[in-house]
Amino acid sequence: MTKSENITWHHSQVSKERRQALNHHKSVVLWFTGLSGSGKSTIANAVEKALFDQQIGSYVLDGDNMRFGLNSNLGFSAEDREENIRRIGEVAKLFVDAGVITLTAFISPYRADRDKVRENLEADEFIEVFVDTPLEVCEQRDVKQLYAKARRGEIKGFTGIDAPYEAPLNPEITIDTSKQPLADSVKQVLTYLADHNYVSLATADEN
Ligand code: ADX
Repeated sequence: MTKSENITWHHSQVSKERRQALNHHKSVVLWFTGLSGSGKSTIANAVEKALFDQQIGSYVLDGDNMRFGLNSNLGFSAEDREENIRRIGEVAKLFVDAGVITLTAFISPYRADRDKVRENLEADEFIEVFVDTPLEVCEQRDVKQLYAKARRGEIKGFTGIDAPYEAPLNPEITIDTSKQPLADSVKQVLTYLADHNYVSLATADEN
């Protein structure tokens, strides 16, 4: 739904398919979802680096970072989180059109919001990566000391403490960072991309 009237969509002369052919890889959204401190950004950034090293164009859109810029007018109410995810879904769609493998790292706690992003893309363009690290582990890590603040009541509506997290029902990839090291999680994502023909990876021998 748009607020504006009298607008017309202009088609590019360069199709997404031609951009993908130029790049020698498909473009897709790897949508990382999970609790704060679950490892979304860490894995997404490590995958981005691994893809870059294979000359594959990728880019991370990170929850905390986007809230400094594009989403600086949003907080953490359910409505603001919905708008946060809607905007990122639209940005990610543009990146996919540009031929980029797009990694998003947002808590994205509401199933309906994530499903809307999926529906807004082609069937094979949305890969949901559930970073299923248990709350106890995230809370113990507490890298940003936010769980401690939330427990003291200094942050209201903190995901996992007094705001909900709705786990994906059928994620394409599930990762529990309390059970495997970062390198294995990166490999898990890369293997998925290669097995489903999004990319072709040079084997260790070829490197
Ligand atoms: S989302 O729920 O809208 O997807 P997003 O991923 O953008 O969240 O931002 C989450 C990050 O914001 C957390 O990793 C944490 O650093 C910070 N944060 C600040 N307040 C909250 C809160 N109330 N709930 C969750 N995360 C918060």
